Amino acid sequence: MSTTTTEDSAALAASSLVVSYNATPVLRGADLHVRRGEIYALLGGNGAGKSTMINAFLGFVRPTSGSVRVCSHEVAQDPLSARAQLAYVPENVALYDHLSARENIDYFMRLAGMPMKDGAGIEQALESVGLDRAAWDRRLGGFSKGMRQKVAIGLALARETPVLLLDEPNTGLDPQATSELNRLLKQLRSRDIAIFMVTHDLLSAAEVADRIGFLAQGRIVEEFSASGTERFDVRRLYRHYAGQGMPGDAAWSRQA
Ligand SMILES: Nc1ncnc2c1ncn2[C@@H]1O[C@H](COP(=O)(O)OP(=O)(O)O)[C@@H](O)[C@H]1O
Ligand SMILES: [Mg+2]
Repeated sequence: MSTTTTEDSAALAASSLVVSYNATPVLRGADLHVRRGEIYALLGGNGAGKSTMINAFLGFVRPTSGSVRVCSHEVAQDPLSARAQLAYVPENVALYDHLSARENIDYFMRLAGMPMKDGAGIEQALESVGLDRAAWDRRLGGFSKGMRQKVAIGLALARETPVLLLDEPNTGLDPQATSELNRLLKQLRSRDIAIFMVTHDLLSAAEVADRIGFLAQGRIVEEFSASGTERFDVRRLYRHYAGQGMPGDAAWSRQA
């Protein structure tokens, strides 16, 4: 398995990326590449800039300098083309509570200008993400976070985007929902989708990712690859992460 990804072939590429809020840089020259068929987990403490990285790919924040590309589309120059390649699952999934799972996908596909001609495509998407059939026609208002996530990922499948971005997908999931999510992400990887997730959960990242990057002081300070069938050595990863001395990140030491 190749562990290097050239910028040109990458589904997601950030190069020397600097993003500032009110003249304070949060990302300070971050370099990152994710290819199709790969799950990349970006770890970092609270406030490290993980969500900012996702927002840069989405074009929600403008780089102060450096570049961000999605499937070769430069986000700053061609935000719509870049955006069309992306499915985004935010920490709190933004779907309509008063609509059912089926209706949400139908509605958002119309909104995306890709109406599903018959119901079969929607059912296929809901089937693929493993949402209980009994929930398909229930309103999202009563759904758990894990179920909402499945609908959001089902929407990504229906849109057939080559890239999926997930912000803190594990936060607030119980162990069973986490393992279902991990299984689903691996299934998407086998469909040649590039998956970029940001998290502060090292164990979950080590379970699902092909590569793990650590974000600190605005840069990717370390990157690790799982080699073939070998999974990550979590102890070693943890030493790197903790050894990196994320200032003020008390939550991290509690997770050890
Ligand atoms: N829209 C914004 N305006 C000003 N500061 C922001 C904004 N968004 C994030 N920040 C700040 O940038 C830093 C990184 O935030 P964020 O990317 O959300 O971190 P993470 O997702 O790793 O917890 C934090 O200090 C946060 O307060
Ligand atoms: Mg965040």
